[in-house]
Amino acid sequence: MLEEINLIYARSLDALEAAKSMEALESWYRDTLSRKSRITLMTRQVGHLSLEERPVFGQRINQIKKALEGAYQERQSSVRAAELQSQMVDESFDVTLPGRRQFRGRLHPATQTLREINRIWGDMGFQVYRSRDVESDEYNFELLNIPEDHPARDMWDTFHTTEPGLILRTHTSPGQIHAMREYYPEPIRVILPGMCYRYEQITARSEIQFYQVEGLAVGKNITMADLKGTLSDFARRIFGADRKIRFRANYFPFTEPSAELDVECILCDGDGCQVCKYTSWLEILGCGMVHPTVLRNGGYDPAVYSGFAFGMGPERIAMLKFGIEDIRHFWANDLRFLEQFG
Ligand code: FA5
Repeated sequence: MLEEINLIYARSLDALEAAKSMEALESWYRDTLSRKSRITLMTRQVGHLSLEERPVFGQRINQIKKALEGAYQERQSSVRAAELQSQMVDESFDVTLPGRRQFRGRLHPATQTLREINRIWGDMGFQVYRSRDVESDEYNFELLNIPEDHPARDMWDTFHTTEPGLILRTHTSPGQIHAMREYYPEPIRVILPGMCYRYEQITARSEIQFYQVEGLAVGKNITMADLKGTLSDFARRIFGADRKIRFRANYFPFTEPSAELDVECILCDGDGCQVCKYTSWLEILGCGMVHPTVLRNGGYDPAVYSGFAFGMGPERIAMLKFGIEDIRHFWANDLRFLEQFG
């Protein structure tokens, strides 16, 4: 038995030397030193030896177990170090390689313009008032002095929902009624930015989905001069003092008198082009003095209060500011277009 245990010892040392991974080491340990290993089983057989042989064998087997345990610990740390080393080599990288380009998002040109418009009106003391995209026919038309069957309804081709009487707002003007009903009897200075929807022919200047920024000022002694002065100041701030503007009389059922504001076409500098339809002017907003019926529907007595309102198109303004010749670029999601606006 002494010979046999010496032989097992020599073989175990060879096997330990051959174990190159932590996994192989675990398996070596199971075979060599666990409770079911050959060496442990032999320890239990000491009883079969003669009285003289027992202490010699017992001493030897303990020496061997201790030596193997020590060799195992040593081997374990060197294998662990080697594994760590090769892992570092695998995961190393060449710091001289060119870096990968980072794709950074940027604001959509319509959003940039919308934010600039909001900022200018904020500077002039107007607060943002949020109003809903899905509106009732009553707010979108009737309370704005456009009864059913009124020919003016043709100005706004409408997307209807499956719910009778519920539509996608065709303009931000219904927000005027919401704001007035909420603020009465306080004076009002608000803008209402939001998306509008119209079931109409898509052209270079008209989309079926576009932003509008509505404005509403209600108080005592507000006149058409306030409307003209405020909107002229806005145009100066957004287009620069040199850009020509003009007010042109128009008709809206919810304002009286009504007008539209045109800006000299920046794309052709007033020479005439496809975008301005060779008129040299681009319309950017509709405006007017709030109609007495609308004031009344909002809760304000038109004998005491007056007000002005306007509705402008940020995409049309962005077209002018950035020289964009077709509104369809805005929502086509073409990166070649979008990446030009940093
Ligand atoms: C209106 O929608 C009125 N509610 C504006 C208004 C408000 C007048 C308050 C008086 C008082 P209009 O349909 O003209 O008006 O639209 C206003 C602006 O929205 C236009 O000047 C234009 O800049 C923009 N706009 C209108 N239709 C489109 C469209 N299809 N695509 C892009 N922009 C549009």
